[in-house]
Amino acid sequence: MTYLETAAKFYSDVAQTPEIGLCCVQSTPMQLPGLNIPLKMQEMNYGCGTTVHANELNNEPTVLYIGVGGGLEALQFAYFSRRPGAVIAVDPVADMRQAAKENLEVAVKDNSWFDTSFVEVREGDAFNIPVADNSVDIVAQNCLFNIFEPEDLTRALQEAYRVLKPGGRLQMSDPIATRSIPEHLKKDERLRAMCLSGALTYDEYVQRIINVGFGQVEIRARRPYRLLEATTYNLEENLLLESLDSVAFKVPIPEDGACVFTGKTAIYAGLEPFFDDNQGHILQRGIPAAVCDKTAGNLAAALPEKVIVTDSTWYYDGGGCC
Ligand SMILES: C[S@@+](CC[C@H](N)C(=O)[O-])C[C@H]1O[C@@H](n2cnc3c(N)ncnc32)[C@H](O)[C@@H]1O
Repeated sequence: MTYLETAAKFYSDVAQTPEIGLCCVQSTPMQLPGLNIPLKMQEMNYGCGTTVHANELNNEPTVLYIGVGGGLEALQFAYFSRRPGAVIAVDPVADMRQAAKENLEVAVKDNSWFDTSFVEVREGDAFNIPVADNSVDIVAQNCLFNIFEPEDLTRALQEAYRVLKPGGRLQMSDPIATRSIPEHLKKDERLRAMCLSGALTYDEYVQRIINVGFGQVEIRARRPYRLLEATTYNLEENLLLESLDSVAFKVPIPEDGACVFTGKTAIYAGLEPFFDDNQGHILQRGIPAAVCDKTAGNLAAALPEKVIVTDSTWYYDGGGCC
């Protein structure tokens, strides 16, 4: 069996017998007026964060959801896009597709606004998405891409890029590792399938997103996820995994490099009313301006006396300039 087949077998098992708390962080699913999530769907919450950013889902976007799980996030996306075929959810695991379909049928009973036609569950995988080029507004995946070996991760990211419309968004949640995961754990196919040993470091993960052409990446959340404890996992020291929620935009990469927003701000602390760097950034005296990490670095290096750069908050949802 390949590691991908091991993962498929694992998810076939947890589709038939839900494993509560398999991947999820300790948070309740997003509560929205009139949205009632069936219990089994909650038990099958195999995500490690969220990809559903409620304040950015106006105009009923078309969503391609990769790795449907129990259908929780597909239902949440459908809440914002109430029309047939608005959410296309793909999964290679027949038992998982079946479980998601059953859960969505249960959801109809408790959600008067919902119709199962809003979510189309299709056979397909992350490397071969059954939709046309440049055809969807959002691609989302939660706690799946971390399972992939690095070159497969790149293939999956390229496939997401292909199906997104220009300007479209790749919304992901994945574990990342606070240092490189040792080989003996990376090779453990079951741990990899359980989202415990395939994670890349933050820098490696973000760089792979940029390498396939995404010109802007925004970090929506970063938090502790799991501890790989030294004795159990045969490590020299404990290894902390974090969960990272991100949104990557299919926009051209600027000549001087992609813009990655991590919640940094730049504050002009000089005596003039404002500072203009003639590169598109105007900072008003004393007022924090959201900037990407590249601009933060440039400003801090050029004007260390006059510009204060604040630390990454690991939360950014728009409003800045690159
Ligand atoms: C960790 S679960 C996450 C499920 C869901 N995203 C959630 O948040 O609950 C991974 C999902 O990806 C599916 N999957 C496994 N291999 C896949 C592949 N190569 N392409 C697409 N989906 C895959 C599994 O069947 C499972 O539904």
